Amino acid sequence: MAGQETHSYDVVVIGSGGAGLRAAIEAAAAGVSVAVICRSLLGKAHTVMAEGGVAAALSNVDERDNWKVHFTDTMRGGQYLNNARMAELHAKESPLRVRELEAWGAVFDRTDDGRILQRNFGGHKYPRLAHVGDRTGLEMIRTLQDYTIHQKVDIFQEYTIISLLKNDGRITGAFGYDREKGLFKIFHAKAVIIATGGMGRIYKISSNSWDCTGGGISLAYHAGASLIDMEFVQFHPTGMVWPPSVRGLLITEGVRGEGGVLRNNKGRRFMFDDIPDLYKGQTSTDEEEGWRYTQGDKNAKRPPELLTRDHVARCIMREIKEGRGSPHGGVFLDIAWIKEKISNAPEHIKRKLPSMYHQFKELAGVDITKEPMEVGPTTHYIMGGVQVDADSQMTTIPGLFAAGECAAGLHGSNRLGGNSLSDLLVFGKRAGEYAAKYSRETTHGKINEDEIKEISTWALAPFQRGSAGVAENPFQIQTDLQEEMQKLVGIVRLENELEEAIKKINALNERIERVSCGGNRGYNPGWHTAMELKHMITVAEAIARAAKERKESRGGHFREDFPQKSDAFGKINICIKKDPAGNMEVKQIPKPKIREDLQQIIDEMK
Ligand code: FUM
Repeated sequence: MAGQETHSYDVVVIGSGGAGLRAAIEAAAAGVSVAVICRSLLGKAHTVMAEGGVAAALSNVDERDNWKVHFTDTMRGGQYLNNARMAELHAKESPLRVRELEAWGAVFDRTDDGRILQRNFGGHKYPRLAHVGDRTGLEMIRTLQDYTIHQKVDIFQEYTIISLLKNDGRITGAFGYDREKGLFKIFHAKAVIIATGGMGRIYKISSNSWDCTGGGISLAYHAGASLIDMEFVQFHPTGMVWPPSVRGLLITEGVRGEGGVLRNNKGRRFMFDDIPDLYKGQTSTDEEEGWRYTQGDKNAKRPPELLTRDHVARCIMREIKEGRGSPHGGVFLDIAWIKEKISNAPEHIKRKLPSMYHQFKELAGVDITKEPMEVGPTTHYIMGGVQVDADSQMTTIPGLFAAGECAAGLHGSNRLGGNSLSDLLVFGKRAGEYAAKYSRETTHGKINEDEIKEISTWALAPFQRGSAGVAENPFQIQTDLQEEMQKLVGIVRLENELEEAIKKINALNERIERVSCGGNRGYNPGWHTAMELKHMITVAEAIARAAKERKESRGGHFREDFPQKSDAFGKINICIKKDPAGNMEVKQIPKPKIREDLQQIIDEMK
């Protein structure tokens, strides 16, 4: 194609986090040519921020665990809106994927008899999270990265994809640019896998890294793919609230898994005040019993701090709203108290939670072995995303696959901690396998030159607009979007606020028509953000519209005007698609039927 470099591959993977790398490894193993496109440098993936562990029913710490219990926990956590086939595959295959990772060099923490150690996490019935202190995601990325570079995979670092390419209804590749020079590149591909992670950066307070802007979800949407479950955003209960520069930074659920407790400014463990019916039989409000649970007593019940994230986040919000919060607008998370139970508590805490210790010491001047942390909810994850086939991860567009956080289905209305790392291993592998298979059975589609011209013109428009008069600053629009999403589409939602959010998002969408940037094309963050805004606005609108459509409260979606679950909404997923006129269409679709044997497992475990 005239004027731009074209690279041709069987499979192109967009994203180099855990899902992308695992997909690339699998596709390369099938013998097809593979490229991985990284927005940043290899290894700088948001996967590292999943700290506390990877969920897999290895039953190393509690022999009662098995795939059926993990499957049931995942379904219950998602309040039964999950795609049950995905939850089945995930529960069955995650132990295989974790052991495989170990064989590739991941060094997990160990039990006394040398097996992979597992810790408790919210919503998991038994200790299930294989971990490396509180740096599990980091170790996984290190391992996957080391393994990938020894496979036949080409890596393009500091490249950004700005559009998928299509012809005759099928995917033909992806179009983007290199950050260094700003030159356009065409990736001609038989199959494309989107593995771009989440969208936390469209909110003001987020645990996500700068590049989690919902790019892949929006790329798929604009190419015509269906999105589902976009209303379900996970607010992790414990992010840093102070100092302001690190507000939102994750504090791993592992702190609570190791015995940390939540208190309000009266010193009360407020989580005792509200235990949801779904978890009543599994939860104890006896402080001693809760502690024993976290230390592996198989006869003890979990403390309420280890209920699901949606619930814990709402309880924290209640305390803050009713004036029982901490000085900087959070609540207290205390792990130092375990000195009453363990003689070498400071060393124990530093060994189990080394990153948390350093994070607080260096960023907030707080020694967590001696004093409590101040914590509050932070936007962490989106359960919704691109609709995929459960087995193959193919989207509704032939040749387009999605895996990891940008794909939807597994988690239903709320994800259990640790299930993201196992999700990306299980479904990253599947996406790679099926994309390779698909690419073997097809030829390269023809690139449409008009499409390329249109995207290039759109991409360069911010340079033509100059800086005078009505020109808009891309960073200001992003900031405005973050403010509105935080205020109007946050943890607690209301019809009129969601309507207002949609209006505000539409107004921002008009402003991006006037966005401008200066300088040249090399390493130009203004230009980069100008193009990213389209993705952020698209994903924000999808979240707000889906949230308005779901008139009930379930998992990560809480409507103050509809505080209960509704049977009718329990039977549907909300599906978002671009209509032929380019508008966002919102539809209710029946959720996939649960196979009888899987339903039986759920019923028995209830
Ligand atoms: O709390 C955490 O360590 C986060 C884990 C996750 O989101 O899976």
